[in-house]
Amino acid sequence: MKVNKNKYIVAVDGPAGSGKSSVCRRVAIEMGAKYIDSGAIYRAITWYFMDKHGDDLLTENIIDQLNNVNIEQIFEKNGDIKTLLNNKDVSKAIREEKIAEKISFFSDNMEIRDYVTSLLRKWSKENFIIMDGRDIGTVVFPNADLKVYLDASVDVRTERRVKEYAELGKKVDENSIRNQIIKRDFNDENREFGPLKKSNDSVYLDTSNMSFNDVIEKIIELIKSNK
Ligand code: CDP
Repeated sequence: MKVNKNKYIVAVDGPAGSGKSSVCRRVAIEMGAKYIDSGAIYRAITWYFMDKHGDDLLTENIIDQLNNVNIEQIFEKNGDIKTLLNNKDVSKAIREEKIAEKISFFSDNMEIRDYVTSLLRKWSKENFIIMDGRDIGTVVFPNADLKVYLDASVDVRTERRVKEYAELGKKVDENSIRNQIIKRDFNDENREFGPLKKSNDSVYLDTSNMSFNDVIEKIIELIKSNK
């Protein structure tokens, strides 16, 4: 059935390296939607606490500490996305491997998850939103108009991640990336609050053997068929 309404939300969830961010950015450009990268907020919060406290990851009075933090995200027309923390552009810094290593310490925390969820909802005032993450279709927008679960094998996801780092001029050890992905999958799937899981009402896409363009076309087709 075609639903003709103004507000339309696409929720894209899936594990690390499944291609969510690049896919969502391209779909958003082609369809004129606003893309929101929820992982970047968890990354920015991790960056903030690590910058402030170093390796001492104590997170006492989290809400008080987050009151001093202002996070913004700018999605540009060419598909670039900028994340600002207290007006500082942290887009590059949050992609460092050390952030991914520590992130679950913060993304497992219920107070932080509640803070991010309300921020994401506040940012979603536009009519057409594409948001990616781990709990978008389950917690942030359980009534999203279209839910997609993007998946790929651990090998394919490792390969993509290594390539991504190479494009940033960084040489990384493939085995350590693979182990990090496996560890993050485990943390993401088993956390008490907002775990990564495939909901019954989401469209499952295993992208292991799909080209980037195939995935884009498939999602655009899904949007067009029920928008
Ligand atoms: O790009 P990548 O797949 O590495 O992950 P990301 O989207 O940047 O998210 C980084 C981490 O943030 C994930 O491994 C999750 O632990 C956490 N995250 C989350 O808990 N909930 C979300 N909605 C998005 C990210």
